[in-house]
Amino acid sequence: DKVQLWGGRFASGPAEAMAALSVSTHFDWRLAPYDIAGSKAHARVLHRAGLLTVDELDGMLGALDALAADVASGAFTPAVSDEDVHTALERGLIERAGPELGGKLRAGRSRNDQVATLFRMWLRDAAKRIASGTLDVVDSLVAQAKRHPDAVLPGRTHLQHAQPVLLAHHLLAHAHALLRDVSRLRDWGARAAESPYGSGALAGSSLGLDPDAVATELGFDAAVENSIDGTASRDFAAEFAFVVAMLGVNLSRIAEELIIWNTAEFGYVTLDDAWATGSSIMPQKKNPDVAELARGKSGRLIGNLTGLLATLKAMPLAYNRDLQEDKEPVFDSVDQLELLFPAIAGLLATLTFHTGRMAELAPAGFTLATDVAEWLVRHGVPFRVAHEAAGECVRVAEARGVGLDELTDEEFEKIHPSLTPQVREVLTVAGSIASRDAHGGTAPARVAEQLDRLVARAEGF
Ligand code: ARG
Repeated sequence: DKVQLWGGRFASGPAEAMAALSVSTHFDWRLAPYDIAGSKAHARVLHRAGLLTVDELDGMLGALDALAADVASGAFTPAVSDEDVHTALERGLIERAGPELGGKLRAGRSRNDQVATLFRMWLRDAAKRIASGTLDVVDSLVAQAKRHPDAVLPGRTHLQHAQPVLLAHHLLAHAHALLRDVSRLRDWGARAAESPYGSGALAGSSLGLDPDAVATELGFDAAVENSIDGTASRDFAAEFAFVVAMLGVNLSRIAEELIIWNTAEFGYVTLDDAWATGSSIMPQKKNPDVAELARGKSGRLIGNLTGLLATLKAMPLAYNRDLQEDKEPVFDSVDQLELLFPAIAGLLATLTFHTGRMAELAPAGFTLATDVAEWLVRHGVPFRVAHEAAGECVRVAEARGVGLDELTDEEFEKIHPSLTPQVREVLTVAGSIASRDAHGGTAPARVAEQLDRLVARAEGF
């Protein structure tokens, strides 16, 4: 029995290697529930166009529901001879509705408009799961920020000690990046909300079908405006792959910091046993594998994006079989993120921060030098001069092997006459942090407001 959807003009079946190359059920089977939903919507517009009687429509919908149940239970699966998810499901439909009725559904549609629609449907659902997983990571960051409202650490630029900041401020910086990823998914969703169903192979349908009715039934805002674009475009997939790659990169930046913070040299954090791994040879080891896998998988997500873009580059309109290569990279990116989210969220939520260690390092490396310069500016000294004077304070302190706060009154005065003993009021980490009190700064009051606004935004998604 013929199992392909296209046997009529062929005298022989496909060569074994041809079929092996062509088959996609091992990855497109996850589109099956969407394919059946599309088939039901298509059956209804066929009926409205007078191409299925009421009884036929009922029989068709009943058979599709039965097939959906068998797909869900695993009673129906693709056969080795099924080329793709669409072929397998047509076989399943015919087995349930008979060849006469089952053979009517394919009128007015093509696998080209089908697959473009189903892929969008799958991605629109995936986008919701990705957003929710991202928000779980944000929750963990927020919980740690709330748990440590006063903890400080040396903020860094070039990985060098720069200025002291609140730990909460630092953690929320990561949360903001992740919220933008969620926002990007929303923006993507608005563009992806058009249904290609009804585009047919490329030119549209001649059978009086209503693409907008199908679009509405499948949860889209509208049908695509152009049937060629509907079947040929995959920028919705590439854009999605970018958003999730960006998300992976943002997670990898968190991961990298955790790996560094977890070293003996930093000693900022201890990982919970449940989210760490050991070594098969070194009994003492406790490794940050969750963070390393996040860092590693971000490379894979970038590869999925660039691979897809390379597939699309210079492809003529409309559908080409190259497009079958669109799904695996994007499915993979989603699968990897869904593995990562609970692990990263769990790792972050259970971290122990060694706030004493972080506080001890916060002023080290003369991180308060900018405070000296800005104190001088507040006392009427031009910044260019103040910068020089504060730099000289660092040079003198470094030569003596002491901190800025350990310079004597005489040393300060000799460096610049305006450096009175009152400068000591900014030579504490707490004073420095409290002074950065403009919108977006690290002062505790500003960070508390920032946290409230961020939580409100996260709840609004
Ligand atoms: N399985 C194909 C894909 O994923 C859809 C089938 C289109 N095939 C065709 N010969 N027009 O893109």
